[in-house]
Order: sequence, then structure tokens, then C-alpha cells
Amino acid sequence: MRRRLGHHRQPGKQGGGGGGKGLLAKLSIAVFVLLICTLSLLFSVSFTPITNGSTAPTKEQISVEELWKSANSGGWRPSSAPRSEWPSPPKETNGYLRVRCNGGLNQQRSAICNAVLAARIMNATLVLPELDANSFWHDDSGFHGLYDVEHFIQSLRFDVQIVERIPEIHKNGKTKKIKAFQLRPPRDAPISWYTTDALKKMKEHGAIYLTPFSHRLAEEIDNPEYQRLRCRVTSWQYTCAFEMDMLSFAGCFDIFTPAEQKILKKYRKENFADKTLIYKERRAIGKCPLTPEEVGLILRAMEFRQFHQDIPSSW
Ligand SMILES: *[C@@H]1O[C@H](CO)[C@@H](O)[C@H](O)[C@H]1NC(C)=O
Repeated sequence: MRRRLGHHRQPGKQGGGGGGKGLLAKLSIAVFVLLICTLSLLFSVSFTPITNGSTAPTKEQISVEELWKSANSGGWRPSSAPRSEWPSPPKETNGYLRVRCNGGLNQQRSAICNAVLAARIMNATLVLPELDANSFWHDDSGFHGLYDVEHFIQSLRFDVQIVERIPEIHKNGKTKKIKAFQLRPPRDAPISWYTTDALKKMKEHGAIYLTPFSHRLAEEIDNPEYQRLRCRVTSWQYTCAFEMDMLSFAGCFDIFTPAEQKILKKYRKENFADKTLIYKERRAIGKCPLTPEEVGLILRAMEFRQFHQDIPSSW
């Protein structure tokens, strides 16, 4: 069986198998996420008053807040809300947690959820996760470019303390920087690793730096509140994935120039198992994400005439 050779892949359960199962899982996640993305977009749009007739609203008339806010739940509680005693994070921190997420978009997204959970478990202060920008999407915008940082920190304030960077300590008139101790977490590390080995180093050094940080916290955790916390982190992440990995995996080539198609086909050959795909049909059968242009067209059709310029092509 052909192995996936991408440099960003971690060997092990998902990457090393090389079989259709992992790929299938990945594709279903991508499709699922795209669906959620599209639905949430449509939902938010439908809650914004749309003017009838000829005058389209200008950007000033559209409240971005309104556009992206959650739909009215009609009294239903989000399933990710805590259902039992869930104390706010303690004021006293055990130290700072830095992580470096790696891998593709979905891997990094789940790594962010794990980083939040790890910080919660350790009573640590989370430093904004570092993203691996050079993996595939050739965009060095980092966390700030992809997330509304203030919203990220605010919306998780009852779960973890988050800071943008490790603060300097002022002691005896001197400014000191805490240097995070670098650790390589075991793959799918259990919670106990975080509360023993990692916590010990954190208390010794004041901060730890976990790298790499994809698949570094067991997926199955016997604590529903911890799983709900992961969901809370996920629930506001919008992914409109339109990136090389996704496109080449799904075989969405026909909208590209011959030169671009060559790159995508080569990438597909090098990273994914051989499979005969009828490229012309891929879009028609719904295997391809909307292009940034199509997202723009839909928004425009809904009379958001200028807003589309602000929609990032991915995330
Ligand atoms: C974190 O704090 C809670 C109380 O707020 C405590 O029960 C728990 O043992 C602490 N965990 C660690 C790893 O320090």
C-alpha cells in the first residue's frame, strides 16, 4: 500500500496506515466542516435584515457582528455548555503553556482544542497557540490573521486563562523573560502525562513549550466536561477550507489552469493513495468546496455587495 509521504504527516495511527480509512475520515471531516460552514453562513445571513428592492446595503449598514452571530436557539442549550459544576479557572496559575500546532488545517484546528483542554487540566495559562504556517496554505498570517483573538480569549474566559504572549517578570528593578522549557509530548498522551511530567516541568521553569502538538492528547477521555470543552473551542471556528491538500485529495482540478492542475496532480500523486477520479465530475457531485469567488457571489446574491471582499479564502 502506498504511504502518504507529506513532510507534515506524523507517522502513527493516522498517517502511517496509508489506507483509505484515514483518508475517508479526513474527507468526511472536511465535508462536514464545509457543511457547517455553509449552514452557519446561511443562518447568520438570514438573521440580518435584507433590504427589498433596488438599494443594496452598504458596508456601514451591515453589522458584521449581526452577520456572524449565532442563530437564535429558541430555548435550546448548546450541547457544548457545561452540565455540571465547572469552576472558572483558578486565579493562581501553575505556569504558561505554549504549543506549536503542526499539520494540515484540520489537524491544527483540533490541536488548538487540545491546547485549551491541556491548559485547563494543568491549571495553566495558555499562550495563543502557534500555527504552522508553512505547511500548506502558503499564508503567513498566523493565529491573528485567522482568528478574532479577542473573541477567542473572551469566549473561553470561563474555561482557561489565555494570554497573547508570556509576560515579562519585573523583579528587583530587573526585567526577566520566562524561557519556556521545550518538551515533546508522547503521541495521544493521556491526561496523567499532563498532570505529572508536563506539570512538573512547568512548575520548575514557569513555562513549557510543547512541540510538535498534533495528536498529543488522547482523543478518548473519560470526562464528558472535557469533551464538551473541546466542542466549545470548535464551535466557533469557521472553516471554509480551500487549500491545496483538500483540493488535491478531492480531485477538484477542473477549475484550474493546466499549469495549476499539474501541480495539484503531482501533489495528489505524492501524498494520497492512487484512485481513479473523473475530474470533470468532482464538482458536480459535491466533492469540492466553494471557491472564494463563489462564496463572494453567494453573498452578493444575498445583497452583501461589499462584504465578500473580507471573507478569507480559507478559515
Ligand atoms: C486545578 O485547580 C483545581 C481547583 O481550582 C484543583 O481541584 C485541581 O486539583 C488543580 N489541578 C492541578 C493539576 O493543579
